[in-house]
Amino acid sequence: MRSYFIAGNWKMHKTVGESVALATELVAKLAGAGEKVMIAPAFTALQAVAAVVKGSNVLLGAQNMGPEEQGAHTGEVSVLMLKDLGVSHVILGHSERRHGYGEDDALVNRKVRLALKHGLEPILCVGETLGERESGRLEAVVGAQTREGLAGVTAAELAKVTIAYEPVWAIGTGKTATPDDADAVHAFIRKVLASLYGDAAAKGVCIQYGGSVKSENAAELMARPNIDGALVGGASLKAESFVPIVRFR
Ligand code: 13P
Repeated sequence: MRSYFIAGNWKMHKTVGESVALATELVAKLAGAGEKVMIAPAFTALQAVAAVVKGSNVLLGAQNMGPEEQGAHTGEVSVLMLKDLGVSHVILGHSERRHGYGEDDALVNRKVRLALKHGLEPILCVGETLGERESGRLEAVVGAQTREGLAGVTAAELAKVTIAYEPVWAIGTGKTATPDDADAVHAFIRKVLASLYGDAAAKGVCIQYGGSVKSENAAELMARPNIDGALVGGASLKAESFVPIVRFR
């Protein structure tokens, strides 16, 4: 049976206490869930949440990291610090980083390679804006984000990479790409991966969909052949909305 990877991106939400409370509830309610599950709290809550998820089936992710191992980089958090806390995954190149904080493909690629070098599994986010989609540049944009994000990544390392397709216009807006639309872009991303790494390797890559995923649309999205999981924002902030997404089948 196909297995899915469902991840919750808590973004800039929740104090340490609130994060621990939600993580505790999720660990209890997701015990035995068949899918791979990850939560990504804010940096400030990682250590406390790490203690809660330890020994459970809930993986711990970070939402970003700096592009260097250490040094004079005020305000950055390094891969070594994340590893130290028991973080196993890291979301990189989220559109809120690209569009809100000027992260370009070259910077995202440095982070992807650094994460892999230290055994942290990256979730590389790609996705077009509405303007890019409407002007016919979807494939150029998503193709470049995929190729440039993975520059220098070996075939062996690719096995540790998840791609998240998150159309910018669908994030936090309540607008979801239709399952067919999303699947078509996922198929395109897989084609790009095949051109870089071959068909077999491309087939093995988990491609998550993100953008207004909720329990009402999760099963329909996941039924599509190229949608291998979900990266969930708003609906991951409460157990009552996140648990049914993980338990969509
Ligand atoms: P929403 O689920 O709130 O649309 O956010 C998606 C997202 O950006 C996950 O990384």
